[in-house]
Amino acid sequence: MPGRSKSRTKGAMGSPPGPETVIDRKRYLYFGGTGYFGLHSHPAVVQSGIRAFQKYGTHSATSRSGFGNNPVLLDLERKLREFFGQEEAVTFASGYLSCLVLAQALAGRYEVVFVDEAAHFCIRDAAAATAKPVFAFKHRDPEDLLRMIRKKLKPGERPLLLSDGIFPTFGRIAPLPDYVRVLELYDGLIGLDDAHGVGVLGANGRGTYEYHGLRSANCYFAGTLSKAFGGHGGFIVGQRELIRSAKFKTGTFIGSTPIPTPLAAATAKGVEVLRQHPEMRTKLRQNVALAKAGLKALGIPIEDTPVPIIAWSIGSEKRMVRVQHELMKRGIAIAYLKYAGAPTAGVLRVTIFSTHTAAQIHRLVEELAKIL
Ligand SMILES: Cc1ncc(COP(=O)(O)O)c(C=O)c1O
Repeated sequence: MPGRSKSRTKGAMGSPPGPETVIDRKRYLYFGGTGYFGLHSHPAVVQSGIRAFQKYGTHSATSRSGFGNNPVLLDLERKLREFFGQEEAVTFASGYLSCLVLAQALAGRYEVVFVDEAAHFCIRDAAAATAKPVFAFKHRDPEDLLRMIRKKLKPGERPLLLSDGIFPTFGRIAPLPDYVRVLELYDGLIGLDDAHGVGVLGANGRGTYEYHGLRSANCYFAGTLSKAFGGHGGFIVGQRELIRSAKFKTGTFIGSTPIPTPLAAATAKGVEVLRQHPEMRTKLRQNVALAKAGLKALGIPIEDTPVPIIAWSIGSEKRMVRVQHELMKRGIAIAYLKYAGAPTAGVLRVTIFSTHTAAQIHRLVEELAKIL
């Protein structure tokens, strides 16, 4: 029976993610996960999913190269195209796969791949799947990128740089203008996994390129729908030719079932809501500024950016786990992570939502001040 599970899984969520979230049957003030705009439980988003569930069932049970296309997926892709101001969009069942699809869709335009050493798992998997030589360069270091390209690229070869737009563990932003300057020397491309940037960064929420004011023809990105947009799945937007390659030259599109239809419908509504309400992004930025000012005053090293991820390390794993437990005893949940790019001992990570109130943010800072 729903809600009666005997499961003893630790950290099991019993409500949608939001400023208040039920974990292991207890309600916490929640600063975990990546539901930056609270769209995962937005009434219009949920209703859209329910209606599609009733009409279409769970999913198409075939890929889109068969009969698996449907008006819901096409509507989602139209909304993504409009949101990002691009010619075309294509979606896949998982955000994790979107970087792989991007790298495959760009095949034939590069011979060697350069990957940030702290890149997300999905980027490293994508690089490996290109079956081209892959080299890591130092985290967010354009000079090391240049050094590696000089060392590894043979005459006539072109580089593909793969990186996160925002790195998920510390919330740092990739130095894209510097990368562009390096890659221009070699007619190279950038393929960005902008999972945490899309919807969040830039005047229109178009992500890390928009944040940096970049519009180079050689800058490509993939994103996820599971974070800012409150839905599920991955996507690529861009020129018609790129999207055609993603659809017809990659196994992911040809050989897998698309986003389950109810989730595609919910996601389309999430994209629509975020487009119609830019004030949600303004609120997120205000909340991020408030949280960063408060945490900085506690001596936590803070990067002054609009990224809603704040992470820091305070020595041993034991100490950080203790801080997390102390906060939980006081009814506040933040993450303790060993994720891509984290030091061996892990990090404490706070994520901020547009739906947090100022009082909730103040409370986090006050309780942390007592514990630290
Ligand atoms: C940087 C980054 N890329 C990709 C993903 C995968 O996206 P999804 O969980 O939507 O498959 C994640 C994690 O969720 C992530 O943090």
